[in-house]
Amino acid sequence: MHTTGSGKVSRGGLEDVVAVRTRLSSVDGQAGELVIAGHRVEELADSYSFEEVCHLLWHGELPTPAALTEFRARLGRKRIRVHEMLVEQGTPAMTDPMDSLRSVLARFESNDDLVDDATTMVAAVPTVNAWWWSHRSGAPAPAPREDLSTTADYLRMLTGRAPGPAAARALERYLVTVCDHGMNASTFTARIIASTRSDLISAVVGAVGALKGPLHGGAPGPVLEMLDAIGSPADAEAWLRRELAAGRRIMGMGHRIYRVRDPRAAVFERAVGELSGTRESNERLDLARSVERIAEALLAAAHPERNLKANVEFYTAVLLEAVGVPRELFSATFAAGRMAGWAAHVMEQRAEDRLIRPQSEYVGPLPA
Ligand code: COA
Repeated sequence: MHTTGSGKVSRGGLEDVVAVRTRLSSVDGQAGELVIAGHRVEELADSYSFEEVCHLLWHGELPTPAALTEFRARLGRKRIRVHEMLVEQGTPAMTDPMDSLRSVLARFESNDDLVDDATTMVAAVPTVNAWWWSHRSGAPAPAPREDLSTTADYLRMLTGRAPGPAAARALERYLVTVCDHGMNASTFTARIIASTRSDLISAVVGAVGALKGPLHGGAPGPVLEMLDAIGSPADAEAWLRRELAAGRRIMGMGHRIYRVRDPRAAVFERAVGELSGTRESNERLDLARSVERIAEALLAAAHPERNLKANVEFYTAVLLEAVGVPRELFSATFAAGRMAGWAAHVMEQRAEDRLIRPQSEYVGPLPA
């Protein structure tokens, strides 16, 4: 075996490797517990705004009321500047919103101030997503507003009207809940780039590329397609049995780390339940609950050793649909929340200032 150094060779997915030390989040897959910057995710989602959580992740403490007001306004001004840039420069016609996001974020130049770059990136994601949607739907892209929160302005730009407080709060819970989640692939990507002392913008552009992959951020769209295909709770069991018999996976079920129900699924299920929804959205929630219950039972019978339960994507689909986010933008909306965590990891990695450079095992031919 040709390796340099004494390294033990890891399995391909690095699941047995602790790659970094972090103060940002902890995922306990056995207990089903997610702690973000010292708070249980359920408490964070119930008690704090997205802007407060950005501040918590980037500065290690919640903002004072004055700092929060200033940060909200700064984000709003940056959304307006991003929108102006899009109006001036236009965007290449891209069919995939994640490609569009990656390309537009890459146009920004870092100014070597980590918090300022992070603020620009958090402001940019909802603005670019809304711009993409307006082009897709043929409607004019509404200009951002400085006086609104990130979530209220995002929903307003997407739907063309001011959201009710319940919808804005439900989306806020979503963004807060997905803001960070241990050493997932996109976060690790961002940290590797940051470890070379490259800039924050390069790091988060790389992270968007990693999130785009269907094994990472791409499942909620297919969950909705599954719910559409099933149609009503009475048809769920037969549909799910057919899928499993055909050897296909049930979307939104199972997780690499969680061996119990993903705690984020419960946060989203509750958030949707609290929306005084339309008849359609109530029926959607009932259907999702039936599908989850039956899928869990069928998967338990098929894989009793695996404990395959609902993951974050299952109720993401139901929540984002209920608040009016188009399904094409589900992954790009995930990026709007996760951007806060990516930026925080870049800051942490830059403070660590240690190049991430693992070894490889050479399995090619040896010279004669
Ligand atoms: N539906 C049906 N079977 C599933 C399943 C699902 N959602 N998730 C896992 N399994 C089965 C696998 O087919 C495999 O069976 P086998 O041993 O007979 O081949 C067994 O359970 C173990 O699967 P494995 O791929 O080792 O699990 P993993 O931990 O690597 O996979 C996921 C985790 C998330 C990739 C997997 O559960 C999955 O594909 N889920 C559906 C997609 C999804 O919701 N992704 C979003 C994740 S947040």
